[in-house]
Amino acid sequence: MASLNDFDTVELLDEESALRIIDQTKLPGKLEVLELRTAKEIWDAIYKLKVRGAPAIGVTAAMGIYILMKPYAGADAEEFRAQFDRTAAYLNSSRPTAVNLSWALARMERVLAGCEGAAQTAEGADVPKGMSSREKLEHLRAQAQAIRDEDVEVCRRIGENGLTLLKPGDGILTHCNAGQLATIRYGTATAPIYLGQERGYHFRVFCDETRPLLQGARLTAFELTQAGVDCTLECDNMCASLMKSGQVQAVLVGCDRVAANGDAANKIGTSVVATVAARYKIPFYVCAPTSTIDITVPDGDGIVIEQRSPEEVTSMWYESPMAPTGVKVYNPAFDVTDHELITGIITEYGVLHEPYDRAIADLFGRL
Ligand code: MRU
Repeated sequence: MASLNDFDTVELLDEESALRIIDQTKLPGKLEVLELRTAKEIWDAIYKLKVRGAPAIGVTAAMGIYILMKPYAGADAEEFRAQFDRTAAYLNSSRPTAVNLSWALARMERVLAGCEGAAQTAEGADVPKGMSSREKLEHLRAQAQAIRDEDVEVCRRIGENGLTLLKPGDGILTHCNAGQLATIRYGTATAPIYLGQERGYHFRVFCDETRPLLQGARLTAFELTQAGVDCTLECDNMCASLMKSGQVQAVLVGCDRVAANGDAANKIGTSVVATVAARYKIPFYVCAPTSTIDITVPDGDGIVIEQRSPEEVTSMWYESPMAPTGVKVYNPAFDVTDHELITGIITEYGVLHEPYDRAIADLFGRL
Protein backbone atom coordinates (compact mmCIF):
# COMPACT_ATOMS: atom_id res chain seq x y z
CA MET A 1 0.00 0.00 0.00
CA ALA A 2 1.16 3.56 -0.69
CA SER A 3 2.34 5.56 2.30
CA LEU A 4 0.56 8.57 3.79
CA ASN A 5 3.55 10.71 2.89
CA ASP A 6 3.01 9.97 -0.82
CA PHE A 7 0.11 12.45 -0.84
CA ASP A 8 -0.92 15.70 0.79
CA THR A 9 -4.18 15.58 2.75
CA VAL A 10 -5.52 18.00 0.13
CA GLU A 11 -3.77 19.50 -2.88
CA LEU A 12 -4.36 21.12 -6.22
CA LEU A 13 -3.90 18.76 -9.13
CA ASP A 14 -1.34 19.83 -11.69
CA GLU A 15 -3.80 21.15 -14.23
CA GLU A 16 -5.56 23.00 -11.36
CA SER A 17 -9.08 22.08 -12.31
CA ALA A 18 -9.46 19.62 -9.45
CA LEU A 19 -8.53 19.01 -5.84
CA ARG A 20 -6.99 15.75 -4.83
CA ILE A 21 -7.77 14.49 -1.35
CA ILE A 22 -6.98 11.35 0.59
CA ASP A 23 -10.37 9.69 1.15
CA GLN A 24 -10.28 9.42 4.93
CA THR A 25 -13.42 7.27 5.09
CA LYS A 26 -11.45 4.42 3.47
CA LEU A 27 -8.59 4.42 6.00
CA PRO A 28 -6.93 2.44 7.40
CA GLY A 29 -7.88 -0.36 4.99
CA LYS A 30 -7.20 1.52 1.75
CA LEU A 31 -5.17 4.59 0.98
CA GLU A 32 -7.32 5.92 -1.84
CA VAL A 33 -7.23 9.38 -3.38
CA LEU A 34 -10.20 11.21 -4.87
CA GLU A 35 -10.36 13.99 -7.42
CA LEU A 36 -12.97 16.66 -6.70
CA ARG A 37 -14.10 18.91 -9.54
CA THR A 38 -17.58 20.20 -8.76
CA ALA A 39 -19.04 22.21 -5.90
CA LYS A 40 -21.26 19.27 -4.97
CA GLU A 41 -18.27 16.91 -4.86
CA ILE A 42 -16.34 19.27 -2.58
CA TRP A 43 -19.38 19.89 -0.35
CA ASP A 44 -20.03 16.15 -0.06
CA ALA A 45 -16.38 15.36 0.66
CA ILE A 46 -16.45 17.79 3.60
CA TYR A 47 -19.89 16.75 4.86
CA LYS A 48 -19.13 13.02 4.58
CA LEU A 49 -15.75 13.47 6.30
CA LYS A 50 -13.75 12.25 3.32
CA VAL A 51 -11.68 15.28 4.19
CA ARG A 52 -12.03 16.41 7.80
CA GLY A 53 -10.28 18.14 10.66
CA ALA A 54 -10.61 21.90 11.08
CA PRO A 55 -7.45 23.11 9.25
CA ALA A 56 -7.84 20.61 6.38
CA ILE A 57 -11.44 21.73 5.86
CA GLY A 58 -10.23 25.35 5.65
CA VAL A 59 -7.59 24.52 3.04
CA THR A 60 -10.14 22.47 1.05
CA ALA A 61 -12.59 25.38 1.01
CA ALA A 62 -9.91 27.87 -0.07
CA MET A 63 -8.52 25.68 -2.85
CA GLY A 64 -12.03 24.55 -3.71
CA ILE A 65 -13.42 28.01 -4.31
CA TYR A 66 -10.40 28.82 -6.45
CA ILE A 67 -10.94 25.88 -8.80
CA LEU A 68 -14.71 26.47 -8.85
CA MET A 69 -14.15 30.08 -9.97
CA LYS A 70 -11.78 29.13 -12.78
CA PRO A 71 -14.53 28.63 -15.39
CA TYR A 72 -15.50 32.29 -14.75
CA ALA A 73 -12.18 33.70 -15.98
CA GLY A 74 -14.03 35.44 -18.81
CA ALA A 75 -16.95 36.70 -16.70
CA ASP A 76 -17.58 40.37 -16.00
CA ALA A 77 -16.99 41.72 -12.48
CA GLU A 78 -20.62 41.47 -11.42
CA GLU A 79 -21.07 37.88 -12.54
CA PHE A 80 -17.71 36.88 -11.03
CA ARG A 81 -18.67 38.36 -7.65
CA ALA A 82 -22.17 36.84 -7.68
CA GLN A 83 -20.77 33.40 -8.48
CA PHE A 84 -18.10 33.73 -5.81
CA ASP A 85 -20.67 34.65 -3.14
CA ARG A 86 -22.97 31.79 -4.12
CA THR A 87 -20.15 29.26 -4.07
CA ALA A 88 -18.72 30.51 -0.77
CA ALA A 89 -22.14 30.32 0.91
CA TYR A 90 -22.65 26.80 -0.42
CA LEU A 91 -19.26 25.48 0.71
CA ASN A 92 -19.66 27.21 4.07
CA SER A 93 -22.89 25.28 4.69
CA SER A 94 -21.14 21.89 4.60
CA ARG A 95 -20.21 21.77 8.31
CA PRO A 96 -20.99 24.31 11.04
CA THR A 97 -18.57 23.83 13.94
CA ALA A 98 -15.00 24.16 12.65
CA VAL A 99 -14.45 27.89 12.25
CA ASN A 100 -11.55 27.32 9.83
CA LEU A 101 -14.09 26.76 7.06
CA SER A 102 -15.62 30.25 7.27
CA TRP A 103 -12.24 31.73 8.25
CA ALA A 104 -10.61 30.48 5.02
CA LEU A 105 -13.55 31.55 2.85
CA ALA A 106 -13.51 35.00 4.50
CA ARG A 107 -9.81 35.34 3.67
CA MET A 108 -10.55 34.47 0.06
CA GLU A 109 -13.41 36.99 0.04
CA ARG A 110 -11.16 39.75 1.37
CA VAL A 111 -8.73 39.10 -1.47
CA LEU A 112 -11.54 39.35 -3.99
CA ALA A 113 -12.76 42.56 -2.37
CA GLY A 114 -9.20 43.92 -2.60
CA CYS A 115 -9.09 43.02 -6.29
CA GLU A 116 -12.38 44.82 -6.83
CA GLY A 117 -11.00 47.88 -5.13
CA ALA A 118 -13.47 47.56 -2.27
CA ALA A 119 -10.61 47.24 0.22
CA GLN A 120 -7.36 49.16 0.37
CA THR A 121 -5.17 46.08 0.19
CA ALA A 122 -5.90 42.41 -0.13
CA GLU A 123 -4.48 40.17 2.56
CA GLY A 124 -0.83 39.41 1.92
CA ALA A 125 -0.89 41.10 -1.46
CA ASP A 126 -0.58 44.55 -2.91
CA VAL A 127 -3.42 44.60 -5.39
CA PRO A 128 -4.12 47.18 -8.06
CA LYS A 129 -7.79 48.17 -8.46
CA GLY A 130 -10.23 47.13 -11.16
CA MET A 131 -8.71 43.87 -12.33
CA SER A 132 -9.99 41.43 -14.90
CA SER A 133 -11.56 38.20 -13.67
CA ARG A 134 -8.51 36.32 -14.92
CA GLU A 135 -6.24 38.48 -12.76
CA LYS A 136 -8.55 38.06 -9.78
CA LEU A 137 -8.21 34.32 -10.17
CA GLU A 138 -4.44 34.60 -9.91
CA HIS A 139 -4.80 36.42 -6.57
CA LEU A 140 -7.32 33.85 -5.34
CA ARG A 141 -4.91 31.09 -6.31
CA ALA A 142 -2.06 32.76 -4.42
CA GLN A 143 -4.22 33.18 -1.34
CA ALA A 144 -5.35 29.55 -1.34
CA GLN A 145 -1.73 28.47 -1.66
CA ALA A 146 -0.75 30.83 1.21
CA ILE A 147 -3.45 29.34 3.46
CA ARG A 148 -2.07 25.89 2.68
CA ASP A 149 1.58 26.85 3.20
CA GLU A 150 0.86 28.73 6.44
CA ASP A 151 -0.87 25.65 7.81
CA VAL A 152 2.36 23.66 7.56
CA GLU A 153 4.37 26.36 9.33
CA VAL A 154 1.70 27.01 11.99
CA CYS A 155 1.52 23.30 12.88
CA ARG A 156 5.30 23.07 13.10
CA ARG A 157 5.35 26.01 15.52
CA ILE A 158 2.56 24.45 17.62
CA GLY A 159 4.79 21.37 17.73
CA GLU A 160 7.77 23.36 19.00
CA ASN A 161 5.67 25.15 21.62
CA GLY A 162 3.99 21.94 22.72
CA LEU A 163 7.28 20.10 23.05
CA THR A 164 8.42 22.55 25.76
CA LEU A 165 5.61 21.13 27.96
CA LEU A 166 6.64 17.49 27.63
CA LYS A 167 9.43 15.25 28.89
CA PRO A 168 11.14 12.32 27.17
CA GLY A 169 9.28 9.08 27.81
CA ASP A 170 5.96 10.80 28.64
CA GLY A 171 2.70 8.98 28.05
CA ILE A 172 0.42 11.21 25.96
CA LEU A 173 -3.28 10.63 25.45
CA THR A 174 -5.08 12.07 22.45
CA HIS A 175 -8.69 12.03 21.27
CA CYS A 176 -10.02 11.96 17.70
CA ASN A 177 -7.57 12.88 14.95
CA ALA A 178 -5.80 16.21 15.11
CA GLY A 179 -2.95 14.76 13.09
CA GLN A 180 -1.42 15.08 9.65
CA LEU A 181 -4.72 14.00 8.07
CA ALA A 182 -6.55 16.88 9.76
CA THR A 183 -4.03 19.40 8.44
CA ILE A 184 -1.48 19.43 5.63
CA ARG A 185 1.46 18.12 7.66
CA TYR A 186 2.38 17.51 11.34
CA GLY A 187 -1.18 17.97 12.67
CA THR A 188 -1.82 20.15 15.70
CA ALA A 189 -2.08 17.76 18.67
CA THR A 190 0.35 15.37 16.98
CA ALA A 191 2.91 18.02 16.03
CA PRO A 192 4.77 17.84 19.39
CA ILE A 193 4.67 14.05 19.07
CA TYR A 194 6.22 14.07 15.58
CA LEU A 195 8.90 16.58 16.59
CA GLY A 196 9.59 14.57 19.75
CA GLN A 197 9.91 11.45 17.64
CA GLU A 198 12.54 13.15 15.45
CA ARG A 199 14.43 14.21 18.59
CA GLY A 200 14.44 10.91 20.45
CA TYR A 201 11.77 11.68 23.10
CA HIS A 202 10.32 8.15 22.88
CA PHE A 203 6.78 9.20 23.78
CA ARG A 204 4.17 6.53 24.40
CA VAL A 205 0.94 7.67 22.77
CA PHE A 206 -2.55 6.47 23.73
CA CYS A 207 -5.25 6.99 21.10
CA ASP A 208 -8.90 7.09 22.13
CA GLU A 209 -10.77 5.20 19.44
CA THR A 210 -13.31 8.08 19.32
CA ARG A 211 -16.84 6.77 18.87
CA PRO A 212 -18.88 6.97 16.76
CA LEU A 213 -16.70 7.64 13.70
CA LEU A 214 -13.49 6.13 15.05
CA GLN A 215 -11.10 8.86 13.91
CA GLY A 216 -8.70 7.85 16.70
CA ALA A 217 -8.61 4.19 15.70
CA ARG A 218 -8.80 4.59 11.94
CA LEU A 219 -6.71 7.73 11.47
CA THR A 220 -4.53 8.68 14.46
CA ALA A 221 -3.42 5.13 15.24
CA PHE A 222 -2.75 4.61 11.52
CA GLU A 223 -0.73 7.82 11.15
CA LEU A 224 1.34 7.25 14.27
CA THR A 225 1.98 3.61 13.46
CA GLN A 226 3.15 4.58 9.97
CA ALA A 227 5.48 7.14 11.56
CA GLY A 228 6.94 4.53 13.92
CA VAL A 229 5.56 6.16 17.08
CA ASP A 230 4.87 3.87 20.08
CA CYS A 231 1.09 3.93 19.99
CA THR A 232 -1.62 2.10 21.93
CA LEU A 233 -5.31 2.14 21.04
CA GLU A 234 -8.01 2.13 23.69
CA CYS A 235 -11.79 2.49 23.73
CA ASP A 236 -13.04 5.89 24.87
CA ASN A 237 -14.44 4.48 28.12
CA MET A 238 -10.98 3.22 29.13
CA CYS A 239 -9.40 6.64 29.55
CA ALA A 240 -10.13 6.90 33.29
CA SER A 241 -8.57 3.52 33.99
CA LEU A 242 -5.55 4.47 31.91
CA MET A 243 -5.09 7.82 33.62
CA LYS A 244 -5.55 6.34 37.07
CA SER A 245 -2.86 3.76 36.29
CA GLY A 246 -0.26 6.53 35.99
CA GLN A 247 0.60 5.87 32.36
CA VAL A 248 -0.52 9.27 31.06
CA GLN A 249 1.50 12.42 31.80
CA ALA A 250 -0.31 14.80 29.43
CA VAL A 251 -3.38 15.03 27.21
CA LEU A 252 -3.07 16.77 23.83
CA VAL A 253 -6.17 17.40 21.73
CA GLY A 254 -7.08 19.55 18.76
CA CYS A 255 -10.11 21.79 18.47
CA ASP A 256 -12.67 23.06 16.00
CA ARG A 257 -13.48 26.42 17.55
CA VAL A 258 -12.20 28.19 20.64
CA ALA A 259 -14.44 30.90 22.06
CA ALA A 260 -13.11 34.23 23.36
CA ASN A 261 -13.14 32.92 26.95
CA GLY A 262 -11.13 29.78 26.10
CA ASP A 263 -14.03 27.29 25.99
CA ALA A 264 -13.03 24.84 23.25
CA ALA A 265 -15.24 22.75 20.96
CA ASN A 266 -13.65 19.52 19.81
CA LYS A 267 -14.75 16.01 18.89
CA ILE A 268 -17.47 14.57 21.08
CA GLY A 269 -15.97 13.01 24.19
CA THR A 270 -13.16 15.53 24.57
CA SER A 271 -14.82 17.14 27.58
CA VAL A 272 -15.07 13.71 29.25
CA VAL A 273 -11.32 13.29 28.80
CA ALA A 274 -10.71 16.77 30.22
CA THR A 275 -12.90 16.06 33.24
CA VAL A 276 -11.11 12.80 33.98
CA ALA A 277 -7.69 14.42 33.45
CA ALA A 278 -8.60 17.10 36.02
CA ARG A 279 -9.62 14.36 38.48
CA TYR A 280 -6.16 12.76 38.18
CA LYS A 281 -4.27 16.09 37.94
CA ILE A 282 -2.99 15.38 34.45
CA PRO A 283 -2.35 18.49 32.33
CA PHE A 284 -4.87 18.86 29.52
CA TYR A 285 -3.70 20.91 26.53
CA VAL A 286 -5.73 22.14 23.57
CA CYS A 287 -3.66 22.68 20.42
CA ALA A 288 -5.16 25.56 18.46
CA PRO A 289 -3.89 27.52 15.50
CA THR A 290 -5.12 31.11 15.86
CA SER A 291 -7.32 30.40 12.82
CA THR A 292 -9.39 28.17 15.13
CA ILE A 293 -9.94 30.87 17.76
CA ASP A 294 -13.19 32.75 17.16
CA ILE A 295 -13.22 35.95 19.18
CA THR A 296 -16.69 36.80 17.91
CA VAL A 297 -18.14 34.02 20.08
CA PRO A 298 -17.95 35.00 23.77
CA ASP A 299 -18.18 31.49 25.23
CA GLY A 300 -18.87 27.86 24.41
CA ASP A 301 -22.65 28.31 24.54
CA GLY A 302 -22.39 30.34 21.33
CA ILE A 303 -20.66 27.56 19.35
CA VAL A 304 -22.98 25.73 16.95
CA ILE A 305 -22.60 21.99 17.46
CA GLU A 306 -23.16 19.81 14.43
CA GLN A 307 -25.71 17.01 14.89
CA ARG A 308 -25.14 13.98 12.71
CA SER A 309 -27.22 11.05 11.53
CA PRO A 310 -28.38 8.22 13.86
CA GLU A 311 -26.90 5.56 11.55
CA GLU A 312 -23.39 6.63 12.56
CA VAL A 313 -24.19 5.25 16.02
CA THR A 314 -26.57 2.38 15.31
CA SER A 315 -25.42 0.65 12.15
CA MET A 316 -22.64 2.26 10.16
CA TRP A 317 -19.81 0.06 11.45
CA TYR A 318 -21.73 -3.20 11.79
CA GLU A 319 -22.91 -5.90 9.41
CA SER A 320 -26.35 -5.66 11.00
CA PRO A 321 -27.74 -2.85 13.20
CA MET A 322 -26.56 -2.91 16.81
CA ALA A 323 -29.56 -1.04 18.19
CA PRO A 324 -33.32 -1.48 17.89
CA THR A 325 -34.82 -0.08 14.71
CA GLY A 326 -36.14 3.44 15.23
CA VAL A 327 -34.49 4.02 18.62
CA LYS A 328 -33.90 7.70 19.37
CA VAL A 329 -30.21 8.59 18.97
CA TYR A 330 -28.23 11.47 20.43
CA ASN A 331 -25.31 12.14 18.08
CA PRO A 332 -23.62 15.53 18.46
CA ALA A 333 -20.30 15.58 16.59
CA PHE A 334 -18.57 17.86 19.10
CA ASP A 335 -18.68 18.95 22.71
CA VAL A 336 -17.34 22.00 24.48
CA THR A 337 -14.64 21.69 27.11
CA ASP A 338 -15.03 24.40 29.74
CA HIS A 339 -11.97 26.63 29.89
CA GLU A 340 -11.51 25.87 33.61
CA LEU A 341 -10.51 22.31 32.62
CA ILE A 342 -7.85 23.43 30.13
CA THR A 343 -4.27 23.66 31.44
CA GLY A 344 -3.03 25.53 28.37
CA ILE A 345 -3.97 26.43 24.80
CA ILE A 346 -0.97 25.79 22.56
CA THR A 347 -0.93 28.20 19.60
CA GLU A 348 1.69 28.99 16.98
CA TYR A 349 2.51 32.11 19.03
CA GLY A 350 3.04 30.37 22.36
CA VAL A 351 1.05 28.74 25.16
CA LEU A 352 -1.95 30.62 26.58
CA HIS A 353 -3.02 30.17 30.20
CA GLU A 354 -5.88 31.35 32.42
CA PRO A 355 -7.39 33.88 32.39
CA TYR A 356 -8.01 32.94 28.77
CA ASP A 357 -10.28 35.87 27.97
CA ARG A 358 -7.37 38.21 28.70
CA ALA A 359 -4.71 35.98 27.09
CA ILE A 360 -6.77 35.62 23.88
CA ALA A 361 -7.60 39.33 23.72
CA ASP A 362 -3.90 40.19 24.21
CA LEU A 363 -2.84 37.75 21.50
CA PHE A 364 -5.38 39.06 18.98
CA GLY A 365 -4.42 42.63 19.90
CA ARG A 366 -0.86 41.83 18.81
CA LEU A 367 -1.76 40.08 15.53
O1 MRU B 1 -15.53 15.46 12.79
P1 MRU B 1 -14.06 15.65 12.54
O2 MRU B 1 -13.34 14.37 12.28
O3 MRU B 1 -13.79 16.70 11.49
O4 MRU B 1 -13.52 16.21 13.92
C1 MRU B 1 -12.19 16.63 13.98
C2 MRU B 1 -11.76 17.06 15.32
O5 MRU B 1 -12.51 17.11 16.25
C3 MRU B 1 -10.34 17.53 15.43
O6 MRU B 1 -9.85 17.28 16.71
C4 MRU B 1 -10.28 19.03 15.16
O7 MRU B 1 -10.89 19.34 13.93
C5 MRU B 1 -8.89 19.54 15.16
S1 MRU B 1 -7.95 19.03 13.76
C6 MRU B 1 -6.41 19.69 13.90
